[in-house]
Amino acid sequence: MTEIFDAIKKSAIEIRNLIQTGDTGKSTQENSTGDTQLKLDIASDEIIENIFKELKSVKAIVSEEQENIVSLHKEGKYLIAYDPLDGSSLVDVNLSVGSIFGIYENDFTGKNLVAAVYVVYGPRVELVIATDEVKMYRLINNEFKFIQNIKLNEKGKLNAPGSTQNCWAPFHKKLIDDIFEDGYRLRYSGGMVPDLHQILLKGGGLFSYPGTTDRPKGKLRQLFEVFPFAYIYEKANGQAVDGFQRVLDIQTTHIHDTSPCFFGSNEEINRVLKVYKENGK
Ligand code: F6P
Repeated sequence: MTEIFDAIKKSAIEIRNLIQTGDTGKSTQENSTGDTQLKLDIASDEIIENIFKELKSVKAIVSEEQENIVSLHKEGKYLIAYDPLDGSSLVDVNLSVGSIFGIYENDFTGKNLVAAVYVVYGPRVELVIATDEVKMYRLINNEFKFIQNIKLNEKGKLNAPGSTQNCWAPFHKKLIDDIFEDGYRLRYSGGMVPDLHQILLKGGGLFSYPGTTDRPKGKLRQLFEVFPFAYIYEKANGQAVDGFQRVLDIQTTHIHDTSPCFFGSNEEINRVLKVYKENGK
């Protein structure tokens, strides 16, 4: 898998350069969920696809920006699902964005995920790789240097609640309000990668993107966003659930399926599970 991690590092350097100098305008295309693609989304996707094409160990790839799975090398062992530039519209307001990668064996299901990686493009470029451990690297003089292992505490202090309050179920709103009442601080930029990175580095808390009245199955995509971060949070001593079960146990029926999701340290996730069990359906 080292060659895959090296390829991701290479793509991150190219995407960082693209973010700094590229055109942030809209393209004339839409992705499979109907979002208008930015030129940056398309260009980042091409960078990653071209780099993965060279790797014999990669059997197939699927991008959040593309409709279908792309077959690469028949004998390859790994399947990779990736979101080339998550939160790309935030580049225009100069906030952090990220790339997310899930590495699978056999098929694209949560239980077959064998590693996950994300890159945060912020004031610094940082890359996190989760296999059995979660390791963070930082881009220094064009090379990724190991900085630290990441482990969540049992309980944190940050609360990152996604979507809009008028679309939340009343019990979900009460859960979030109660968490704030208990002294948690609001930290939500609208970029999943920097928001989850912050919780990981500050030791814990809760990021939630529930099922809502406008999107009962949530907004975030299983293969490209939810599963890779679930893997990372679990390996970092935290949890990732859909309110009722581990997200990695969810059956995926389509590559672009979404799912409600909650990522956090153990105490916050146990609290979510309790509230959803009492109120949810
Ligand atoms: O997937 C897109 C995304 O931009 C995520 O990075 C982010 O967590 C989420 O959408 C924010 O959505 P909302 O603005 O509805 O909270």
